[in-house]
Amino acid sequence: MNKNKGLFITFEGIDGCGKTTQLNMLQEYLKKCGYDVLITREPGANQILCEKIRHLLLYTQCEMDSRAEMFLFLADRAQHINKFILPALKQGKIVLCDRHIDSTLAYQGYGRNNNLDEIIFLNNIATNGIKPDLTLLYDIDIKTSNLRVGKEKDRMENQGDDFLKRVREGYLDIAQINNQRIKIIDGCQNVEDVFLNTKNVVNDILKSKFEEKI
Ligand code: TYD
Repeated sequence: MNKNKGLFITFEGIDGCGKTTQLNMLQEYLKKCGYDVLITREPGANQILCEKIRHLLLYTQCEMDSRAEMFLFLADRAQHINKFILPALKQGKIVLCDRHIDSTLAYQGYGRNNNLDEIIFLNNIATNGIKPDLTLLYDIDIKTSNLRVGKEKDRMENQGDDFLKRVREGYLDIAQINNQRIKIIDGCQNVEDVFLNTKNVVNDILKSKFEEKI
C-alpha cells in the first residue's frame, strides 16, 4: 500500500480490452459511495507537456527509434505522477489511472523487445518509486481486440498482430510475477459482468485501505 492517504488504482490491457469503460463505471460507483475520485490517463493527462508528448507518440508520422519511444512514455509518466497523481494521493483521493508502468513493460518491453530489467529500473526513476496499490488487467484475445479497435488506428495500434500477441503474453507474465498487486479480469464477458468483477476486487482493497464496509 502506498504511504499516502489516497489509493492508486491502474487499469491495463491491450487495445480494445474495455478498461476505459470500466474505469468510468468505477468512477461513478465510487463517487456514489462518497469517495473523492480523480480519473486520469497515460500518455497525455492534465499537463501541457504530457499532451504534447501524447501527440508525438500517437499521431506523429515519423520514424521513431524504440528507445526514443520508451523515453517519451517515461517522460510523460515522470511529469504526470509528480505534478498530478502524487498531489492527489497526498490529499487522500482515489486516483484511477488508464495505463501506467505495466504498459511500458508490456509494450516497450515484451512488444518491442527492450530489456525488461532496464524498463523496471527506469519506471522506478520516473515514478520516484511510487507503485499502484492495485492494478486491474483486462485480458482479451487478439481477435476481440481487432474487432473492437476497428479500422481507424493510431500509431501504437498499427503495430500488427504479432506485436499485440507479445504484449498480451507480456501482460500475463507481468501479472503472474506481481500477483499481489495485479488482478486479471476476463475482458471478453459483457460489460456488466466485467464490472461485477471490477467492483469485487476494488471493494476488497477499499476495506483494507480505509477499513470500511461497503
Ligand atoms: P490510447 O489512445 O490512450 O489508447 P488506449 O485506450 O488503448 O489506452 O493510446 C495509448 C497507446 O499507447 C496504447 O496503444 C498503448 C500505448 N502505450 C505504450 O506503448 N506504452 C506506455 O507506456 C503507455 C502508457 C501506452
